[in-house]
Amino acid sequence: MSEKNNKIPFNEDNYTHNIERNNERKLDRRGFMKTLVGAAGVFAVSSLPWGAVAAKELMGLGEKEYPHKKITEVSKLPIGDAVEFKFPGDHDDAILIRLSENKYVAYQNACTHLRCPVFWVKEQGEMICPCHHGKFDVETGSPTAGPPRRPLPEIQVKVENGAIFAVRVKRYEA
Ligand code: FES
Repeated sequence: MSEKNNKIPFNEDNYTHNIERNNERKLDRRGFMKTLVGAAGVFAVSSLPWGAVAAKELMGLGEKEYPHKKITEVSKLPIGDAVEFKFPGDHDDAILIRLSENKYVAYQNACTHLRCPVFWVKEQGEMICPCHHGKFDVETGSPTAGPPRRPLPEIQVKVENGAIFAVRVKRYEA
């Protein structure tokens, strides 16, 4: 401890009268640690909901069900034909293909390579991406040729009262 001028009104050490900076570093370090611990606590608590979301996704519970959207009437889609639609959002391009009397498949049709639109080529029985000659299996959405490595996200559909509805997007399985 250094000598203090006893005429200074208070004999305590604090920031306003601590002219000789006694214990200043110690006080600063303590304040800093308190701030650090406080900030860590705030981050820990605020990240909890994201942990729950991530766990749900990782456990495969993340299939998203959206408000059902009518794609078309069964009577307007002959067997072997396809129709394009938007799902789940107004900017998400998708394609529905009728494979037989009662079998329908639907996918988000942005190519999993560089997102060009994938078309159904009835004569070849394949889904084709014109950009880099990518091809997809119509039954599963899996890539069969070209650069794409991931399947097209599948859209589950259901038929009700003579119309076909998009129900949910299936999560991508690695
Ligand atoms: S964008 Fe489809 S193959 Fe490249």
